[in-house]
Amino acid sequence: MDLGLTGARVVVTGASRGIGRAIAQTFAAEGADLALCARGGEALDRTAEELRSGGAKVVAERVDVAADDDLDRFIDRAAAELGGIDVLVSNVSAGSSTPPDQWERNVAVDLIPFVRMTDRAEEHLAASERGGAVVLVSTTSALHTGPPSGAKAYGAVKAALNHYAAALARTLPPKGIRVNTVSPGPIEFAGGGWAKRREQEPEFYAAVRDQIPMGRLGGPEEVARAAVFLASPAASFISGANLVVDGGFLDRV
Ligand SMILES: NC(=O)c1ccc[n+]([C@@H]2O[C@H](COP(=O)([O-])OP(=O)(O)OC[C@H]3O[C@@H](n4cnc5c(N)ncnc54)[C@H](OP(=O)(O)O)[C@@H]3O)[C@@H](O)[C@H]2O)c1
Repeated sequence: MDLGLTGARVVVTGASRGIGRAIAQTFAAEGADLALCARGGEALDRTAEELRSGGAKVVAERVDVAADDDLDRFIDRAAAELGGIDVLVSNVSAGSSTPPDQWERNVAVDLIPFVRMTDRAEEHLAASERGGAVVLVSTTSALHTGPPSGAKAYGAVKAALNHYAAALARTLPPKGIRVNTVSPGPIEFAGGGWAKRREQEPEFYAAVRDQIPMGRLGGPEEVARAAVFLASPAASFISGANLVVDGGFLDRV
């Protein structure tokens, strides 16, 4: 199946490792041009160089998405240097740790930047000739209250994001913009949260793994393929989906 992404202009936040990096790699393999951001420059530059060596046009910028001006500048630069924006992927999260200011952090890093960048990019997405698309990377923790997240800001703030994305999915299609969500279950990659838990909390890791009918955690590329499909013209009649990528982890209808 041709996803129709050759030459698409794609913005991915938090693309220097894990799921965001895999999403960028998958778009690049489909022939898309990319604007990527993260706070740490080294890993971001490595990712950008790798994608450029495969032939992709890549704009990479150090950005803290919680800094409003940085985020605005990044979206504006992406549109200027790529010649527009067809796809916006919101991938950054403050994560599911439990600092005392977890609520402030998850609102500032997960919630506000999604609201701000969908707004900032809207005119560009609406001008896209292939149809604009927004993909929110959420989590299964927004869809149940049990472990691994439980009663933390992470799942609750992501649930608020799901609500907002679902509402945008109904208000933006008249402007030619589709909005969809991808909800990964536990995903493991070197240096990521689950690789650390495997080392530091092996019993917890095993208990979560054993709840996944496939008997393993997922890989970033398995989430990336779902995100890239939803962003692509191949999903032209899909807006408001929440595609769960969790190996059957969630027990729900
Ligand atoms: N991994 C999982 O098991 C899992 C499961 C469900 C959902 N998810 C969701 O998937 C998404 C990605 O998670 P992940 O585990 O792959 O990656 P991650 O380890 O959380 O890293 C995400 C990326 O975001 C960047 N980043 C973090 N804070 C940032 C900020 N304030 N501004 C700009 N960039 C920032 C990181 O680079 P810097 O640190 O250099 O900025 C990195 O490139 C998140 O939305 C997460 O909630 C993950």
